[in-house]
Formats: sequence, structure tokens, C-alpha cells
Amino acid sequence: MNSRALYPGSFDPLTFGHLDIIRRASRLFGTVIVTVAVNTKKSYLFSPEERIALIEACIKEEGLQEKVIVDQFTGLLVDHARRHRVNTLIRGIRQISDFEYEFRMALMNRKLEPSIDTVFLMPREEYTFISATLVREVAYWNGPVDQFVPPVIASALKQKQVLQNQINS
Ligand code: PNS
Repeated sequence: MNSRALYPGSFDPLTFGHLDIIRRASRLFGTVIVTVAVNTKKSYLFSPEERIALIEACIKEEGLQEKVIVDQFTGLLVDHARRHRVNTLIRGIRQISDFEYEFRMALMNRKLEPSIDTVFLMPREEYTFISATLVREVAYWNGPVDQFVPPVIASALKQKQVLQNQINS
């Protein structure tokens, strides 16, 4: 299987839902490129380097390092897809409410680059309520995040919180 697909996202941080999508995509495509968005107008909890290192650690833990590459991009996603010579984008759909935005983005990307198609994958049902935003919120208030993210990410979130508390004290 030589097919390649690009899985873009903020991954701030990677959740069990994202990991489930990566697992599913790696069964459908020869290589999956997980690409971390770097938007200078947006503020992230984790730097691009941290997000990449955390994703790589999880990919290794899953034994998917032969099939999954992690990189970053800034600017238009279709330009990054062209750089990689990839025609397939992967996006996860958790609920119907995700669909409208994802549908518009998929059509915009296809308008910008007609050779590009988006494949939507659904995570396991028990992950459908998990979002990186909610995970950050729970972590911010020192809540348990172990059910939502892999252990390495849970420790990174705790560490961020400790640093943040030190800065604020
Ligand atoms: O995990 P997210 O935040 O839902 O990911 C959204 C992302 C980064 C994939 C999307 O915002 C994106 O592709 N941004 C880059 C700019 C772009 O090409 N946008 C789509 C066409 S308007």
C-alpha cells in the first residue's frame, strides 16, 4: 500500500480521539502524515515542538512509527499537501455539529486544489465528546485528564499546570 494521507490539526494537545483517528487512518493508508498547524495569530498551550514530540511519543507507544510521520505546517493546508504530493486529507468527525464546519473546509480546500479530497473518519463512540479545548479546561482546573489523553500527554499537561502556578505565585 503506497497511498499517503495528511491528517492536519492543532493537536493542542493530542487526545484519545485523535489517536483513534490516526490508528484508523493507518489501516487505510500506507503512510499517514500527522501535520501540526502553526498559526501565529493563534495562541497554543503547547509549542509546535512540544506538540510534535508528544505526538511522536504516542505514535511510538502505539507501535505506529513505521507508518506515521509527524511534521508541522504554517499557511494554507493545500500548499503543504502539494509539498508532500498528497491528495488525501483526513479529518475526524465526532458529531453532526462538527460536520458543517468540516464540510465547508473540505469544499474550500477542494476549490483551492481540485485534486484534493477529504476523508472523514469517526472515532470510537466513547471518544466523541472529547476535545482538546475541554481537555485543556479540565487540566487548567487541576481535574483528572487520564481518561481523555495518553499518559505522556497527561503528565505534560500536569507539568504545564505546575509551571503556570509557579509563574502566577
Ligand atoms: O484541530 P483544528 O484546530 O480543528 O485544525 C484546523 C486546521 C488547522 C486543520 C485548519 O484550520 C487549517 O487547515 N488551517 C490552515 C489554513 C487553511 O488552509 N485553512 C483551510 C482553508 S480556508
